[in-house]
Amino acid sequence: MIRALLNIIGLEQGDTVLDPFIGSGTTGVEAQLLGINCIGIDVSPLCVLQSKIKTESIDVQLQIEEWKEEVTKRIRPSLYNLEGKTIDDAINLIHDEKVKNFYNMAKLVAISDNVRRGREFSNAFLKNLELMISSVNDYVEIVKKLNLKLGKTDIKTGDSRALPLNNESIDGIITSPPYSIALDYVSNDAHALKELGYDLSDIREEFIGVRGKGQARPNLYNDDMKKSLEEMFRVLKPEKYVVIVIGNATYMGQEVKTVEFTINYAEKIGFKLVKNIDKIIFGLYNVMQKENILIFQKMRRR
Ligand SMILES: C[S@@+](CC[C@H](N)C(=O)[O-])C[C@H]1O[C@@H](n2cnc3c(N)ncnc32)[C@H](O)[C@@H]1O
Repeated sequence: MIRALLNIIGLEQGDTVLDPFIGSGTTGVEAQLLGINCIGIDVSPLCVLQSKIKTESIDVQLQIEEWKEEVTKRIRPSLYNLEGKTIDDAINLIHDEKVKNFYNMAKLVAISDNVRRGREFSNAFLKNLELMISSVNDYVEIVKKLNLKLGKTDIKTGDSRALPLNNESIDGIITSPPYSIALDYVSNDAHALKELGYDLSDIREEFIGVRGKGQARPNLYNDDMKKSLEEMFRVLKPEKYVVIVIGNATYMGQEVKTVEFTINYAEKIGFKLVKNIDKIIFGLYNVMQKENILIFQKMRRR
């Protein structure tokens, strides 16, 4: 879907797309494959790490292979260690940041498998590592086979309400912001965020959609989304497009009209809605049934 949207909004090799809520990096990967440069921002250090792994590990394929033995020999299935201390010793020896990120991610996925699914940590780590390495190898092979000229990626921690970007510097935006209060990204990733050394109550204040309690929460969400939409408008070049994938969620028994809110506010600040596509979603039936793909064009300066 993201690849189709990159094409629909007319982005070409060498252009720059922004995703101010990059999440696990889908926009980054698809842009990279098409030779489009991508700037990805997310408030979650875990998401930034995920997105970096997906787009940067191919640069260090050989070093990842070289470190495999050193890291895996530290695993002692009999000395089960939830904190991954023995693996940490090996990971800390790695100097290259991309290689280090790769092994840290494999460790975090294993912790998640252990905490959420009750899988044994060492086995989960070894299995995930194999899958991740073969995925990097596949990516490198396909790039060679198809002779792809990859786009550059720049993925960093940041806040969509205050983007670290110049005015009118971006050729297109494709993003899916938090769906109102449908998912609590902080609780969802609590174990990994703690492992990365973050204080959950501090970090909660930065996350859109999880701030405040009761009726205050949707109001804070709307305020935060207004700022984010204004920032998207500021950094986008005139006449260019922003695609926002978003849905209405149910909160405290009531439907929160996030889609209508987004359309109204975006049009108020100078975007024009050029397309609104309904898309059924699967798996979140309790909070939402469909999402909308909203395509806006930046029509005028504010
Ligand atoms: C719906 S998800 C994005 C999913 C993404 N499209 C993907 O493919 O994985 C929304 C993201 O917004 C991030 N987020 C929440 N508040 C933010 C903020 N103030 N600035 C930037 N990102 C934020 C969350 O961490 C989460 O990754």
